[in-house]
Amino acid sequence: MVKAIIAPSILASDFSKLGCECRRMYDLGADWLHVDVMDGNFVPNISLGPPIITSLRKAIPRTEKKLFFDCHMMVANPEQWVPEIAKAGGDQYTFHYESTKDAKALIQLIKEHGMRAACAVKPGTPASVLFELGEQLDMILVMTVEPGFGGQKFMPDMMAKVDELRRRFPQLDIQVDGGLGRETVPAAADAGANVIVAGTSCFTAPEPVELIDYMRDTVNN
Ligand code: DX5
Ligand code: ZN
Repeated sequence: MVKAIIAPSILASDFSKLGCECRRMYDLGADWLHVDVMDGNFVPNISLGPPIITSLRKAIPRTEKKLFFDCHMMVANPEQWVPEIAKAGGDQYTFHYESTKDAKALIQLIKEHGMRAACAVKPGTPASVLFELGEQLDMILVMTVEPGFGGQKFMPDMMAKVDELRRRFPQLDIQVDGGLGRETVPAAADAGANVIVAGTSCFTAPEPVELIDYMRDTVNN
């Protein structure tokens, strides 16, 4: 049985206090930090890149806290950034299926750089494109909004995709990203998702500890 992993998306944090915000989420019980890298090309937005990840890794070193940097690469050239993200301190590299011509070679490249390899699909991309890749992947990300912006509405139709992938890959980490919070986590957990990305809901929650615990319990029970 796969276990719950709660990954606050730092896109929803106050960027002027990024280091403190990341530390706060970790202290509140987050398992991973979800780091959204956007290049203004694959998606119509620009967020942050390797220099900021390098600084965050220095601020929260692996020696002090076992903080996992889950890097969601919304970029047009995912091959290009693998060495830099590894060097910056990324632990997992999630590329978009739609952004590469050779997913298998990219998975190999990511692993050669010592990171976990994950593949994301946009809402319009069917689950079937991942059937052949699943065995080589450490995680699949089913987007539950169009990538590019935080604070969008969860797309419940995507749960059929999660269910299909969970049946095929019972042991694989399956992540959902976009619009996850108290109201939507039960559907995601029911469908078989175990890695929950939560941006707006975590960073605006009056009691984030309680929300993180609720999300974890909902997945685990
Ligand atoms: C959207 C990003 C998400 C985003 C989620 O492109 O991939 O990680 O930050 O934000 P919320 O949880 O606010 O929908
Ligand atoms: Zn994301």
